[in-house]
Amino acid sequence: MGDMIDVPVDLGDRSYLVAVGHGARSRVASMLPKGAKRVAIVTQVGIPSEYLPHLDGYAVTHHVIGNGETHKSLSTIEKLCSEFAQAGLTRADVVVGVGGGMVTDVAGFAAASYHRGIAVVHVATTLLAMIDAAIGGKTGVNIAEGKNLVGAFWQPHGVACEMDALATLPEREMRCGLGEMAKYHFIAREDFTTLPLLERVARCVEITDENGSWRYRFVYDSEFVTVEKGSITINGTSLTVVDSEDQSFAVCIIPYTYEHTNFHSLAVGDEVNLEFDIIGKYVARLMNR
Ligand SMILES: NC(=O)c1ccc[n+]([C@@H]2O[C@H](COP(=O)([O-])OP(=O)(O)OC[C@H]3O[C@@H](n4cnc5c(N)ncnc54)[C@H](O)[C@@H]3O)[C@@H](O)[C@H]2O)c1
Repeated sequence: MGDMIDVPVDLGDRSYLVAVGHGARSRVASMLPKGAKRVAIVTQVGIPSEYLPHLDGYAVTHHVIGNGETHKSLSTIEKLCSEFAQAGLTRADVVVGVGGGMVTDVAGFAAASYHRGIAVVHVATTLLAMIDAAIGGKTGVNIAEGKNLVGAFWQPHGVACEMDALATLPEREMRCGLGEMAKYHFIAREDFTTLPLLERVARCVEITDENGSWRYRFVYDSEFVTVEKGSITINGTSLTVVDSEDQSFAVCIIPYTYEHTNFHSLAVGDEVNLEFDIIGKYVARLMNR
């Protein structure tokens, strides 16, 4: 396996590429939409500037957002959009988000909102952003009433998973990403631990099941599938499907429900109130225990 792995995300006319590798940021230029002249790079206090892509031939402006969830707000979106306007960004121009999930959520939503939507490309610098937040097109910010309550589905034009960035990632953030990755081990029912990290990241992005690429379908469907509130039954256990923003828990349970229910009965974005012993039994079964 080389130093760079390209994973195509097949979404019809909105298909894009996820480049995973050391130096993946150098791929950003090739991901920008044709006709773009101005690039607004959105990044965050504390993210080393070496991870910013070099984009010769474009008018590049830099926009730095604060650190911490309080900055993941509508006022940050308003400030960014004002800065984009001052930089003269048009509908044909592009936003590049460089950072972890917080940056990609905010940059993605600012791009989705400005001029009613301009292109966005992400450079993911945390493990969690590489395998989850930066892909799939979910963007948004927090309001006082809840986390990620305001947002939009806005697919990126491309994603660069910059493996170099993991060298400076705080250990706690690395652990968060590895925890997320553990879910994909269960989903894919493969032992990823033997693979180099770069290949594990690429595998998490491209995960498929025996019926095809459920993750891509999942990403796609999550925009359109509406799940009725109510109950589903899995192996005699009744689960309540409620509206929620806790997608990660739903992702964890998806492979289980996929085996036992109609796929469309549950979509990402729905929380499943599930007794923890069910998860435990599921994991144990995967481990042949
Ligand atoms: N859109 C989605 O599908 C989705 C999925 C999961 C999580 N999220 C969102 O993602 C956010 C969490 O993202 P995260 O876990 O990537 O954390 P984060 O973006 O909050 O980053 C964590 C910290 O690490 C720093 N950092 C990032 N990259 C670094 C690097 N390479 N070197 C040094 N420091 C670096 C950041 O500045 C920040 O202080 C939450 O807001 C969550 O809601 C979105």
